[in-house]
Amino acid sequence: MLKKTADRERVLPLLEELGGVTEENVKRVHELTGVPEADIWGSGTFYHLLKGGPGIRVCNGLSCRIMGSDQLAADLKAKGKEVEEVSCLGQCDRAPAALDESMKVFDAAKQKRSITPDDPRLPLNLGGEQNFEYAALKKARELGRDGILKQIEASGLQGRGGAGFPAHIKWKGVSSQPDPVRYVVCNADEAEPATFKDRETMLRRSDKMIEGMAIAALVVGAKDIYFYIRGEFNAEAEAVQAALKRAGDHVKDWNWHFHRGHGAYICGEETALLESMEGKRGMPRLKPPFPHEFGFRGKPTLVSNVETFACVPYIINEGGEKFKAWGKTEAGSKLYCISGHIHNPGVYELPLGATLEELVQAAGGYMGNPMAFSPGGASSGFLPIDKRNEPLDFKGLQKAGTMLGSAGVVVLNDTVDMARAAQWQLEFFEDESCGQCAPCRIGSRYLHNQVTKYLETGDPAALKHANDVGWEMEEGSICGLGMVAHKPLVDSMKYFPQAFEKR
Ligand SMILES: Cc1cc2nc3c(=O)[nH]c(=O)nc-3n(C[C@H](O)[C@H](O)[C@H](O)COP(=O)(O)O)c2cc1C
Ligand code: SF4
Repeated sequence: MLKKTADRERVLPLLEELGGVTEENVKRVHELTGVPEADIWGSGTFYHLLKGGPGIRVCNGLSCRIMGSDQLAADLKAKGKEVEEVSCLGQCDRAPAALDESMKVFDAAKQKRSITPDDPRLPLNLGGEQNFEYAALKKARELGRDGILKQIEASGLQGRGGAGFPAHIKWKGVSSQPDPVRYVVCNADEAEPATFKDRETMLRRSDKMIEGMAIAALVVGAKDIYFYIRGEFNAEAEAVQAALKRAGDHVKDWNWHFHRGHGAYICGEETALLESMEGKRGMPRLKPPFPHEFGFRGKPTLVSNVETFACVPYIINEGGEKFKAWGKTEAGSKLYCISGHIHNPGVYELPLGATLEELVQAAGGYMGNPMAFSPGGASSGFLPIDKRNEPLDFKGLQKAGTMLGSAGVVVLNDTVDMARAAQWQLEFFEDESCGQCAPCRIGSRYLHNQVTKYLETGDPAALKHANDVGWEMEEGSICGLGMVAHKPLVDSMKYFPQAFEKR
């Protein structure tokens, strides 16, 4: 039984090593693992990066689109280059972004670099130097499970992967399971358009993330720790590996494993991620049971985001209360990503609950006349700019009918057609829906088709069912993707009705 599981888990890495899904490679993987060929086809073809592909990958995400990615793709094609237009490259601060054949940022010399405040007191302090003394881990060993949990609870740390779930509850949940085999998994899949904070954390402060993961493993009693890192993040994976090497003996109590993603946004959803680690199609599981009870290989598993883990050393070193005090409306500091029509796109660490206005001030000001913003990645829809003084936090935005999500903020000025912006976001969700449940699979395609029809004909009747379909998606989808995919269109119709009048 164990051999079968282990063999199944080798399917995706083997396909990657051999160069993707081809008849010959599938046969070879079958010979090496014993997994039926049909299963290997089924799993492998789910993933964009295993399908092979042409040269330059141009990003189609919102920030890239408003900064001219369609033109970039057309120019490259006109020069005879082979171009693939992809949903998101996690490089919104370099919009319009593209990757060359070896996954390096295309034309890097011309690209902007993320900017971050350089205050040494900040909990994450992305501007600071890495530190491999591992003082927090030492202190955590002295505090023990209950002492650590006390500090995490006092810190008010909420998961930074999107849902804002209290970290101490999740940690406690895994550590109190009767099964003694438990896992820790770092979710570094980061593929929500507008989001690139985990990328910067891995490049700049892998030390903090690794130390946080080791402290989490102490609490939950895990021996094996996994990184699930987005497939396009080569430099980031190398940075983590280098940091792990420098950590040396400090982290030798654990087995550290790497699993590379293969190009599927949905694998950021924690149960899809676990399916993918098990060598299957990245389709979200029905919940409950949640991963803290039934996770990787059916064992209790703590899945947390890069930034969440990176907050932990500060909490242990300085105390939970001090971390909490950094927040404005909720606990701690927060990494906000900002891109679109602002002067200095990048990652900024600010008190949790900072407003858009404060974030934009840090990011060099607006370009043009701001009209709308998306507060937390594609999933958060759009808000009108008159909400710019509302706190960007988990609970407040939820009350306002949206969410902080991954804190990927995009600003749109009045040159953007909001119906077009909604169409771009829906194209993303239609492409990335895993297709297992009807409301999401059909709803995302329907809404995308209808807004496209409206843009082509100028007839608002094309959108008369949009709100009802959106409601069905929200109520009937298995996972968060389908529940929010309608938001960019429904929010735009609500806040910018003039963009949906007869044209
Ligand atoms: C469609 C979808 C995509 C997601 N993508 C990510 C992601 O890329 N990274 C991440 O940490 N969480 C992502 N999440 C949230 C995870 O399911 C999970 O809540 C998170 O990893 C838990 O970590 P946290 O408690 O530290 O927030 C996604 C959720 C959904 C529904
Ligand atoms: S909501 Fe969409 S992405 Fe999520 S499980 Fe259903 S089909 Fe897949």
